[in-house]
Amino acid sequence: MTILITGAAGFVGSKMVEYLCDSDKSITLIGIDNLSRKGSEYNVGKLAKFNCKFIKGDIGIQKDIYAIPKVDWIIDCAANPSVLAGLNNDSLQLINDNLTGTFYLLEKCKRDGAGLIMLSTSRVYSIEALNKIKLVENENHFSINKNVNHQQGLSSKGIAESFSTTAPISLYGATKLASEILALEYHNSFGFPVWINRCGVIAGAGQFGKIDQGIFSFWVYQYLLNKPLSFIGFGGSGKQVRDMVHPYDVFQLIQKQIAKPNRKIHRTVNIGGGVDNALSLAQLDSFCKEDIDADKQINKIAENRSFDIPLYITDYSLANKLWQWQPSYTVDKILKEILSYAEDNIEHIKQIS
Ligand SMILES: NC(=O)c1ccc[n+]([C@@H]2O[C@H](COP(=O)([O-])OP(=O)(O)OC[C@H]3O[C@@H](n4cnc5c(N)ncnc54)[C@H](O)[C@@H]3O)[C@@H](O)[C@H]2O)c1
Repeated sequence: MTILITGAAGFVGSKMVEYLCDSDKSITLIGIDNLSRKGSEYNVGKLAKFNCKFIKGDIGIQKDIYAIPKVDWIIDCAANPSVLAGLNNDSLQLINDNLTGTFYLLEKCKRDGAGLIMLSTSRVYSIEALNKIKLVENENHFSINKNVNHQQGLSSKGIAESFSTTAPISLYGATKLASEILALEYHNSFGFPVWINRCGVIAGAGQFGKIDQGIFSFWVYQYLLNKPLSFIGFGGSGKQVRDMVHPYDVFQLIQKQIAKPNRKIHRTVNIGGGVDNALSLAQLDSFCKEDIDADKQINKIAENRSFDIPLYITDYSLANKLWQWQPSYTVDKILKEILSYAEDNIEHIKQIS
């Protein structure tokens, strides 16, 4: 079997290469990346060690995709994954990376008779609807008020696939939602398999954490580099909550999806850490204070920014029901892995921060 991994030098893509190489030596791996993400060039050398043929190319350029030999599956991990992307002079670039790129990959699937696995995002869900969730304000985190929420797709387990996707969802979210729709139409029209995984925050060793993407790694790195940090929005309380999932847990599902391409079930599922793997910035900060043993002052900026949401927790019940999937990495294990990686690679972290 030949698998093309796009964004192969990125955080998730490079881990995917490593995981597939370790789990099945018979797979031929091809990776493509345009190295636009700062730090991605660092992973290129590693790809060869995992028997992945690397192509420097752009998924939004037709000839770059059509030049790739025939494949059986494409796992699309290439994107500009920031919720702030496209807001300056980079809207066209965002469309190229996240939407035109999907289009050429789908065309390649059609030509090759290949399947597509898409890593979509929780950012397809409506910011307005997420901001309407009734919350309980606890000492150091928000939680869902189980008694007063009646929105479709919302329960004490978090946000399910039927939650509103009405704009605003950010330009990033819009490119992903549009890609999902296009992918499902190609699946229906041309018959090749498409699986869409809407992921909450994916976190683990090796992420190029920055303030607008990879927040858990970013926070740990700022501690180690003794750089400033702020609780932004929600009164500067740091009570905003996200869940986290480790890439290896995501890959376990992808392996199952590749093994069962033709199941007549929902093609789109939510994947994330869920209630048990959710924590607030304030709780993350406590972890850093304890495990890095640093007494750091955190600045407080009370006002929200336009894409801020107080809470996102994945309800992964559908993935559990259809695929018997559930995350295995705990918050503690993921954070310790991020910290240990950062301590061992501090020079690299300095360069990308
Ligand atoms: N990391 C998360 O928390 C998270 C959460 C939800 C969804 N996702 C999705 O998972 C995927 C991987 O995210 P990540 O965290 O690894 O991001 P990343 O930025 O670490 O990796 C993305 C890679 O894609 C490459 N790339 C960007 N545009 C490209 C193009 N036009 N052609 C070729 N390569 C291109 C970048 O250089 C980078 O190496 C993305 O699709 C993202 O939307 C990530």
